[in-house]
Amino acid sequence: MLKIDNISVKIDQKEILKGFNLDIKLNEIHAIMGPNGIGKSTICKVIMGDPDYIVSSGSIIYDAKDILKMDVTERARAGIFLLNQSPIEIPGVTNAEMLRLALSQKQGALVPIFEFNKKMEEICKKLDIPKSFIHRGINEGMSGGERKKNELLHLWMLEPKFIILDEIDSGLDVDSLKIVCESINEYKSSHDCSILIVSHHPEILKMLKCDYVHVLSNGHIVQTGNLSLAEKIENEGYKSFSGLNKVSENTYEA
Ligand SMILES: Nc1ncnc2c1ncn2[C@@H]1O[C@H](COP(=O)(O)OP(=O)(O)OP(=O)(O)O)[C@@H](O)[C@H]1O
Ligand SMILES: [Mg+2]
Repeated sequence: MLKIDNISVKIDQKEILKGFNLDIKLNEIHAIMGPNGIGKSTICKVIMGDPDYIVSSGSIIYDAKDILKMDVTERARAGIFLLNQSPIEIPGVTNAEMLRLALSQKQGALVPIFEFNKKMEEICKKLDIPKSFIHRGINEGMSGGERKKNELLHLWMLEPKFIILDEIDSGLDVDSLKIVCESINEYKSSHDCSILIVSHHPEILKMLKCDYVHVLSNGHIVQTGNLSLAEKIENEGYKSFSGLNKVSENTYEA
């Protein structure tokens, strides 16, 4: 479904990714782990098409299309969805306005209001968020955890095929984490889709039953394994991974 072949990525003249490869098949869940500042959010934004990130070589093929030739809107219409690590506020544009317009564009016809509202209300109930969120500015004044759930509301409404979850678990309390994982599992069992998840914690990877866990270092994936790799990281940190040397309490260098 998504094949990243040997890409190099720069931002602000700084090379973040080099020789990065990843192959995700339909219905698979892949996780990327790695120390802070190593490039995990970078790869998420590159797949989504953030124009600040310059891909200087390599290719990204999604659903048989060369997405490096597509802008972020085209990628979203093709079914790629990014749940950002820090979702931004868009004051003045409500969830309902944005989602009805996005859905209407996707379907090529205005979505009937009754049907739209009914679906929104059902999802709010499922995610345990107040119905008032429907008509609130996008993420406006919402807490960190509420933002993650609000973005999940977008996911359910837009029904993407390739889902990128960048630290969806950060800011969620234990009950919310459970609701969010159950919701993602329900989405996955009712939709053909693939998921790329970034997290520092094995707990969510277990709850989502990740198929593969990758460790990112020195601009590319240095090790791939299953959930036991995430547990090893939790127990031992990143010091035992090849190519990584600890230079200070939370910093590693290749
Ligand atoms: N817009 C930018 N301008 C300059 N440097 C940037 C920019 N965006 C990212 N970087 C740098 O790129 C590197 C990778 O950042 P990235 O956000 O991908 O890290 P990460 O692995 O997601 O870290 P974390 O676990 O803390 O979320 C960092 O050194 C970061 O400072
Ligand atoms: Mg990040």
